[in-house]
Amino acid sequence: MHAGPLPEGVQRVLVTGGAGFIGGAVVRRLLKHSPAQVFNLDKLGYASDLTSIEQLPQAAERHLLMPVDLADAAATAEAVRLADADLVLHLAAESHVDRSIDGPAAFIDSNILGTFHLLQAVCAHWERLPQERQQRFRFHHISTDEVFGSLGASGRFSESTPYDPRSPYSASKAASDHLVRAWHHTYGLPVVLTNCSNNYGPWQFPEKLIPVVILKALAGQPIPLYGDGANVRDWLYVDDHVDALLLAATCGALGQSYCVGGHGERSNRQVVEAICAQLDQLQPQGAPHGRLITLVPDRPGHDRRYAIDSSRITVELGWRPKHSFEQGLEATVQWLLEHQNWCARVLMQAGYAGERLGQRSCLALPTAAWKLVESRLRF
Ligand code: NAD
Ligand code: DAU
Repeated sequence: MHAGPLPEGVQRVLVTGGAGFIGGAVVRRLLKHSPAQVFNLDKLGYASDLTSIEQLPQAAERHLLMPVDLADAAATAEAVRLADADLVLHLAAESHVDRSIDGPAAFIDSNILGTFHLLQAVCAHWERLPQERQQRFRFHHISTDEVFGSLGASGRFSESTPYDPRSPYSASKAASDHLVRAWHHTYGLPVVLTNCSNNYGPWQFPEKLIPVVILKALAGQPIPLYGDGANVRDWLYVDDHVDALLLAATCGALGQSYCVGGHGERSNRQVVEAICAQLDQLQPQGAPHGRLITLVPDRPGHDRRYAIDSSRITVELGWRPKHSFEQGLEATVQWLLEHQNWCARVLMQAGYAGERLGQRSCLALPTAAWKLVESRLRF
C-alpha cells in the first residue's frame, strides 16, 4: 500500500468520463491529493459539467481536458498517445437506464464500441512503453452491479455471480467488461475491474433518483416513484466509491474484479421518504413533502433488487465505506439546497426539464404493425 492515492512513479493519469458525476469526483481527488497530471477525456455530453473541477486552483496547471468521443477511433488513439499515461481510469459511458430504454444506440456506441476503441489505443500505448513504465501501468475499468441482473428477496452479488444483464444499459456495460477481460487474457493488458452499486452525492446530473426527488420536492411537484416503490438499491456515497476505485486501480490484483457496495440497501420508497423527512426539517414551509409522493407506471424490465457483497475489496485491500446512508444523504440534500442554480443551469444546457424518461416499449412496433394489418384486412 502507498500513502497517497497514487504510488510513486504514477505521474500521468488518463481519466475517461471525468466531466461526469463520478469521473469528476475522481479528477478532483487526484488534483487535490496527488501531484499527478490529469488528462480528462470526455465527449462533453448532456450530463457533463466542469464547474467543480475548474474552481480548483490545481486545475489550471494539472488538468487537461481532451474533448473526444470514444466512438471516434482515430481521435481516441491520438488522445491516448498525447496523454502518455501511467494509469487509465475508464469511467466514460452513457449511464442512465431510462435513457437506454428510449435510445439504446448511444449506449452501444459509447459503452461497447467506445471501450473497444479505448482498449485498442491503450494496448498500443502500453506495448510501446519502456519496461519500467510498462510494469507499473494499469487500466482500470469502472463498471456496475447491474451486469449481474436482478436479485430476489435474499442474496447478494459477488465477483463470482454469473452475468445476467437485463437493460440495454447493463447489457452494454456487461459487454464492455467482457472486452476488458479479453484484452487482459489475449494481449496481457494489465487490467483491474470494479462493479459498483448506486452512487449519490454532490454534482450528480439531476436525472437519477436522489437528485430528481430532491428537486421535485423543492418545486412542490409530484415525486415519481416507479411501480410499487419496493425495488431495492444499495446506495454508496460517491467519495467512498472514489476511495475504492483508486485503491483497486493501484493495489488490486491484475485481471481481478472487485465488487463495491455501500451496505446501504434501501427500497426506493424508503429513500424517497428519508429525503422528504430531511426536507421537512430544512424547508418546513413545504412540509409534509411526503404528500407529493406519486406512484407512476413502472420502468420496463425494472430490476427488482441489487445488493453487494464487498468482502473481497474489504479483506484484500482494506476498503470500507466511511459514510452511512443517513450521513451521505444529509450531505447530499444540503448540497442540492445550496446548488439549485447549478441544477437549473445544467438541466437547461441539457435540454431536460425533468420529464419522465424510459417509457418506450418495443411492443409498440408489433402493435402498430398489427393495426396496419387490421386496416388492410378491413379494406
Ligand atoms: P455520468 O453520466 O454522470 O458521466 C459519464 C461521462 O462520460 C459524461 O461526462 C459523458 O460525457 C462521458 N461519456 C459518455 N460517453 C462518452 C464517449 N463516447 N466518449 C467520451 N466520453 C463519454 O455517469 P456516472 O454516474 O459518473 O458514471 C460513471 C461510470 O461509472 C460509468 O461507466 C457507469 O457505468 C459507472 N457506474 C455508475 C454508477 C452510478 O450510480 N452512477 C454506479 C456504478 C458504476
Ligand atoms: O446500480 C448501479 C447503477 O445505478 C449504475 O450503473 C447506473 O449508472 C445508475 O444510473 C444507477 O442505475 P439505477 O437505474 O438503479 O438508478 P436510478 O437513479 O435511475 O434509479 C434508482 C431506482 O429508483 C430504480 O429502481 C428506479 C427508481 N426511480 C428512478 C427515478 C429516476 C424512481 O422510482 N423514480 C425516478 O424518478
